[in-house]
Amino acid sequence: MSPAGSRALARPSKAVPSVRPLRLGVNIDHVATLRNARGGLHPDPLRAAHLAIEGGADGITAHLREDRRHISDTDITRLKNEITRPLNLEMAATAEMLEIALRHVPHACCLVPERREERTTEGGLDVVGARVNLKPYVARLKDAGIRVSLFIEPEIATIETSAAVGADIVELHTGRYCHLALANDASGVARELERHVAAAAAADAAGLEVHAGHGLTYNTVKAIAVVPQIVELNIGHFIIGEAIFCGLSSAVRRMRTLMDEARATPARYGVSA
Ligand code: PXP
Repeated sequence: MSPAGSRALARPSKAVPSVRPLRLGVNIDHVATLRNARGGLHPDPLRAAHLAIEGGADGITAHLREDRRHISDTDITRLKNEITRPLNLEMAATAEMLEIALRHVPHACCLVPERREERTTEGGLDVVGARVNLKPYVARLKDAGIRVSLFIEPEIATIETSAAVGADIVELHTGRYCHLALANDASGVARELERHVAAAAAADAAGLEVHAGHGLTYNTVKAIAVVPQIVELNIGHFIIGEAIFCGLSSAVRRMRTLMDEARATPARYGVSA
């Protein structure tokens, strides 16, 4: 066969959409919340990280907050040195956190908005408003070999600006969707899911890797897991809460199973791949 003929045979006749693997990052902040309630060493977030990995976590996520309300600087040192999967460090885009990230060089940093009075990360980062400061900040992290993610609302303008400031990844804030699901607001849920589907497609088209997280549970994870461009979910509070009843590895394993089932059969959950 001529070289030209073999090239012709090798070319696929029709593009076959491939299913991208979906990773699970387990956020262990609330193990530290419980530990700090008594000021001692138990329960240990590092032990939790090992158990989450045993249950199928692909990575460990920890948020070092300015007020150190849960994860401590020592936790970050121990996690970075001892876990066998990538560490995703969530942090505010401050000078203090930049110095810490550059010292530890985690696999990824997810930049989040942070207000002291909030109970958890409420709303996404104002990337459009902060773009002038974010661009050099993102560049410093990337120069150190850290993948940079921005935690954002699923909005097209924010996605375009995230690409413009040089982010590698956007993590879509699923909090509003989960809140509406909890309130049984079917039309609100449908509207939020549509926003996530559109945002994931736009981010992917802009060359950004797409993650999602916040408030996800066994019930809400499936409709997000089927969005084909999303390749990582970061889940904490629900998994750590479930662990009280069934153990951490088994809570992680159940979440993994639900994600994987949804990804393999997207039509059952209303979103086509
Ligand atoms: N992703 C980001 C960026 C977050 O800030 C959080 C909360 O710390 C999560 C995911 C996980 O949210 P939850 O604990 O509600 O699962």
